[in-house]
Amino acid sequence: MRKKQVYIETYGCQMNVADSEVVLSILGDNGYAIAQEAGAADLILVNTCSVRDNAEQRVHQRISTLKNYKRQNPGVLIGVLGCMAERLRTELIDKGNVVDLVVGPDEYRKLPGLVEHAINGERGIAVKLSRVENYDDIMPLRTDGVCAWLSVMRGCDKFCTFCVVPFTRGRERSRSLHSVVEEVERLSDRGFKEITLLGQNVNSYHDGEFDFADLIQAVARVDSSLRIRFMTPHPQDMSEKLIHAIADNDNVCKSVHLPVQSGSDRILSLMNRTYTTERYIRLVEKIRKNIPDVSLSTDIIAGFPTETSEDHEKTLDLIRHIGYDGAFTFKYSPRENTKAWEMGDDVPEELKIDRLNEIIELQQTISFQKNESLVGTVVEVLVERESAKSSADWMGRMDSNKVVIFPKSTAGAGDFVPVKIERCNSATLFGVVADEPAALREYRIAVNN
Ligand code: 5AD
Ligand code: SF4
Repeated sequence: MRKKQVYIETYGCQMNVADSEVVLSILGDNGYAIAQEAGAADLILVNTCSVRDNAEQRVHQRISTLKNYKRQNPGVLIGVLGCMAERLRTELIDKGNVVDLVVGPDEYRKLPGLVEHAINGERGIAVKLSRVENYDDIMPLRTDGVCAWLSVMRGCDKFCTFCVVPFTRGRERSRSLHSVVEEVERLSDRGFKEITLLGQNVNSYHDGEFDFADLIQAVARVDSSLRIRFMTPHPQDMSEKLIHAIADNDNVCKSVHLPVQSGSDRILSLMNRTYTTERYIRLVEKIRKNIPDVSLSTDIIAGFPTETSEDHEKTLDLIRHIGYDGAFTFKYSPRENTKAWEMGDDVPEELKIDRLNEIIELQQTISFQKNESLVGTVVEVLVERESAKSSADWMGRMDSNKVVIFPKSTAGAGDFVPVKIERCNSATLFGVVADEPAALREYRIAVNN
């Protein structure tokens, strides 16, 4: 008998990518095969994100397209998973007569049963949040490759006032250190070369016995050639013990993403971020002292309620002062039910855009300067895949997470390659393999031309 086929589309953060792999594993154990395209699937799942309104709008558009598709293919089931499922619940089922299943982030084990019911015409919804579910015993269904994402904790208890995550993903809970280490061992055996430990608030990991620094030490010891990263830490939980765990292990990448959100203490307090700029700067100094050459990146929100031009200037000052290697920058997006929602959304859209653009421009200038200082040096790159822009090039990343593009040589995906950097822009470095014999390089250039 032909196996039923499932196709999953993932929006939003890496946690969702990891969750989709859990979902595929659960459905795989229940007789489903993975379809490579939506057109081949009996069940189409959309794993969604609610963090900003534009993320939700993209999914709404996708659901409208699926409505047309379903009209022509009435047997196909459509499911919405993830944060939007948790936030909008029955609204998704009621709207437009297209969604058959709505399943929140802690209810994925119920998927096979819900699908069975949906086949019999019964639309299903499961959106209870759990204090314990961490899918500890489920081996996510990953495609072989170079980089793997591994979620070690779920949920968030920080309640930053702008953020919907504590409402859509519930309370913090951690997997056991033992189960994470076991999974890392399996990934290393399968040939993965880089693992990113994930959590909404990854460094507040605690399994009852071990904290995140212990976890980093344990994971780093599994295989000294395996690169370890983690996402996303909160400044409040960046302990000295953790800084030392990063510094002490050669295979833990010297790259820390440390979301600051704003450079104004008044705004930070309204955001409930639990630190001042002074404390944040001291933390960065401590990190830089203990981890020389660490690369730092951040998240910044422009146009939080009541933000004045003075507050905005303070954010620009902080960016200059820290000198981040990179930043993810966002326009404030009000989310229902959050504390900030009640503060109104009083920064006009044009002003938000202007401030965001100023932040982006400043950061690009700094990123470019940082990248430029690498021109002429040889850096180690882990090759990930072919460059999206040219099939003649490889794309890989440095330990610092910087993206490097270089012409293909004998190396391939999964290899660590010394690359001499020749030029850069603010986002990317370009180079050539450093130890490639000149004769081979000339031959390759001739062939490529
Ligand atoms: N509006 C804009 N940006 C947000 N983020 C979270 N919630 C919002 C919001 N309501 C950003 C924060 C966070 C990142 C993942 O998304 O900067 O660190
Ligand atoms: Fe949201 Fe703050 Fe939790 Fe991050 S730490 S998920 S921004 S509430």
